[in-house]
Amino acid sequence: MRYLTREISGILRGISFSFLFVFEESSRATTSERISIITAQIRTTPEMPGLDGMASASYPPIESCPSYDPEAIQLPPHLLLDAFHGLNVCAPMVRYSKLAFRTLVSRYETHITMTPMILAKEFSRTEAARNSEFSTNQYERGTYELLPGVAEGSESASRRLSEKDVSSSELPSELTNGEAHREAQAERRRIAKQKVRVRGALVAQFASSEPEPFADASELVGRFVDGVDLNCGCPQPWAYEELLGSYLLRQPETVRDMVRAVKARMGSDFCVSVKIRIDPDLRLTDALVRNALHAGASVLQVHGRTRWQSSSEPVDLDGIKFAVDAANSCGFRTSWGSKGGAAARFADGGSGGLVPCVANGDVWTLDDAILYRKTTGCKGAMSARGLLANPALFSGYEQTPPEAVGFFHRVATTWGLHTGLIQRHLAYMLEGQFQSRAEAIHFNSLSGGAAMTDYLAEQGLLWSADKHADPLASRFGFGTERRGLKKSEGEGVGPQRCWSLSESLAGVGL
Ligand SMILES: Cc1cc2nc3c(=O)[nH]c(=O)nc-3n(C[C@H](O)[C@H](O)[C@H](O)COP(=O)(O)O)c2cc1C
Repeated sequence: MRYLTREISGILRGISFSFLFVFEESSRATTSERISIITAQIRTTPEMPGLDGMASASYPPIESCPSYDPEAIQLPPHLLLDAFHGLNVCAPMVRYSKLAFRTLVSRYETHITMTPMILAKEFSRTEAARNSEFSTNQYERGTYELLPGVAEGSESASRRLSEKDVSSSELPSELTNGEAHREAQAERRRIAKQKVRVRGALVAQFASSEPEPFADASELVGRFVDGVDLNCGCPQPWAYEELLGSYLLRQPETVRDMVRAVKARMGSDFCVSVKIRIDPDLRLTDALVRNALHAGASVLQVHGRTRWQSSSEPVDLDGIKFAVDAANSCGFRTSWGSKGGAAARFADGGSGGLVPCVANGDVWTLDDAILYRKTTGCKGAMSARGLLANPALFSGYEQTPPEAVGFFHRVATTWGLHTGLIQRHLAYMLEGQFQSRAEAIHFNSLSGGAAMTDYLAEQGLLWSADKHADPLASRFGFGTERRGLKKSEGEGVGPQRCWSLSESLAGVGL
């Protein structure tokens, strides 16, 4: 039920702005008082329909867009990373990693997606921030067939793990006939049988300098995501001055307290990750990692640059490896933090492995992702600008496939995203495909949604329900037919629209 309740920007749904500000909570109230004030006000709001609310004509579902795969197992990010091979992550990106874009990349082997950074204090204090900063719905997570956990780079695994061989329908030239051909086919069948159908995970990223707002924000968003992340890397001067983002890289005790606060509020199983940059003084990286992990951080995400380095500078894979080694030396994950020594592995009934790490910085191709996992010991590879340019990169595409352009345009215009932002996204996706600089300039100068739609239609890039299906629907055969529902009954699971956080809370009786 938790996963059926989702949100979209309150402003886009026409909720009056004055109404949003009525609910700014008193900063003098205690945490639990504030949360009950918020939820009580939501419950009494006449504009907010319950979970059984009717589909609004302005928020129709995307054709064949699967909302929920009952056969897929659902795991939080740290267990996904623990249990499966070759995990890919969409980085948090202010303005960009919003619902429509996350939905798009989740169709192309991006298993974990992250929201843009959200200011925890604002999010926990004001309805306006909650409704504009977080949106989700029942369609956004992808479904994948993943190979259970084998470490990339380990010898015994290497035969199973040539991802391209596993997914490719073409056989290597030396295996085109005879016994070798049959052996290769048998191997593929063996691998296919071992794969498990898994649902993707969504993580909300927060910026905070204090434990309480981070815990409040996590509690509010907790039932709609699979984990939260603490931003310890934003290098922007305004963030540093507010003691946020990269300021925390040298404040290990503050990070420790924030991780502890969320664990205490949300429970030990709740996934709390930290996203860091490396420090030129690696001893400080070591201190940060140890504090975060001993406090119970579930995943470590490492951007291999320092806070002073621009994104044009090369990524330090050795620096990422150093952070991974620091994480591994913290020992096994227990309910309340990593503890050294093999005995700790069984302290909570044996559930905890080493805290999994994710490598980030200059992942532009699937080969980069494979190389990063192999050389750094990370379980996951994260991309930001690479995915903006080619949202299908983790599926092995060299550039954005045309159907991804159409799918994004369809989803973003249907569910609501600012037109200028849709255009920015499309410009990134099409950048390598414009025939000339003049065409790029022409595209960027289009004004308004209609001009953009015309352009896509002329290029044959517009989504067509007759020609296209959601990539997931095609792969797994989801859709109304599979569930034996009539077309008019749509997905049949949950409301056919997006939900604001407040609507979602109201829907689950809070
Ligand atoms: C447009 C944009 C917005 C970003 N916003 C965030 C953010 O909200 N939170 C965060 O931790 N990092 C943010 N980053 C940094 C990325 O998550 C990532 O760490 C960085 O871009 C390096 O990855 P890349 O080389 O794949 O781009 C942003 C990066 C870009 C390009």
